[in-house]
Amino acid sequence: MHHFEYCNGTIHCEDVPIETIAGEVGTPFYCYSYATLTRHFNAFDEAFSDVDHLTCFSVKSCSNIAILRLFASLGSGMDIVSGGELYRALKAGVPPEKIVFSGVGKTAEEIIYALETGILMFNLESPQEMMALNECAVRLGRRAPMAIRVNPDVDPHTHPYISTGLKENKFGINLEIAESMYAQAREMSNLDIVGVGCHIGSQLTEVSPFLDTLRRLKLLIEALRKEGIQVRYLDLGGGLGITYSEEDPPHPREYGRALLQEVNGLDCGLIFEPGRVIVGNAGILVTRVLYTKEGPVKNFLVVDAGMNDLIRPSLYDSYHQIQPVVDNKRPELQADVVGPICETGDFLARERSLPRVEQGELLAVMSAGAYGFTMSSNYNSRPRVPEILVRGDAFEVIRSRETYEDLVRGERLPDFLIDG
Ligand code: LLP
Repeated sequence: MHHFEYCNGTIHCEDVPIETIAGEVGTPFYCYSYATLTRHFNAFDEAFSDVDHLTCFSVKSCSNIAILRLFASLGSGMDIVSGGELYRALKAGVPPEKIVFSGVGKTAEEIIYALETGILMFNLESPQEMMALNECAVRLGRRAPMAIRVNPDVDPHTHPYISTGLKENKFGINLEIAESMYAQAREMSNLDIVGVGCHIGSQLTEVSPFLDTLRRLKLLIEALRKEGIQVRYLDLGGGLGITYSEEDPPHPREYGRALLQEVNGLDCGLIFEPGRVIVGNAGILVTRVLYTKEGPVKNFLVVDAGMNDLIRPSLYDSYHQIQPVVDNKRPELQADVVGPICETGDFLARERSLPRVEQGELLAVMSAGAYGFTMSSNYNSRPRVPEILVRGDAFEVIRSRETYEDLVRGERLPDFLIDG
């Protein structure tokens, strides 16, 4: 459920007409609903309210500090994968002891930043990274809380680019090696073993891969306990999918129920790293039709948002529903919805049936809240678009549209190119 609905024939976000926002900030822009963000966070978190748990929102999915602040105010921790994400989380006021740090390529600088900050735990993905963490901790005279991200070799049945828990993926460590790494970690001077982690992929639409993973991790935790290694946290990662078109993923309640049944009796605090399921349907991208164009074999709607603004259709061939902002009740027409970028792969939708829209009209690209703005770029020297947060009948610009000046910030002409 989300708060982007037609009211008097025009899409509103909560009580604000999208047309009003477009009139004030121009197009394209991302628009998020406070009520949907809140509702989705609470729905996820409440699925685990009976047990000791921490929901760590996955910053990469939607990283605006206003949105992070909103989740922090609801009790969220954060899952980060870079120093930049740590900076954002701290700026948003997230308590460091609620931050988990994942990712295969943490640099020494990032590790030191996180150690100095005092985060909850580092999810390690290689033996060399474990050495690096210990060395950094020695250098700072601190102890580093760590978990190993296990690669359980479970097929998440999702797009290959976002599947992470198969043995051919670069992520995590297989179970046998993980066990021996824990034994080594115990002998290392500045490491504290606090958890076991995993994350098997994104946009999962069934619970069985999560359950298979959990069973494997339980065996590992039991084996570690036999060795006298106690883990306090079990981090089950993120990955729960949403409905973009026909998918029917489990509700967080069902996901929670199934996992808790399987977890039963395991004396560990649970950590989750959801991203998409919380923000995916809480944001849309609004774009204007610049031109309509009839090619010899296809119709095109050339819009002012391109693959630099929303790369998911180009990168994963993913489907985003597209709706005219004003419901004009015109008959449907098939068209490719394409952007202004100089690439054939620059499309938001292909061969899509849409009510016929005219030049100058607005389109809403739905379910764009996750991995939308965060994956946007300045390709073709296009300023990144603003982000708007609606609450009730009011809206705030939570990120301004970039200017041309922003585009060249940090660039400089070397002396040998300056005349005279
Ligand atoms: N934890 C870790 C370690 C992750 O790598 C990810 C996502 C998450 C949590 C959150 O997963 P979620 O709950 O959002 O599925 N750009 C792609 C998705 C990439 C996911 C990367 N990792 C897309 O647009 O579909």
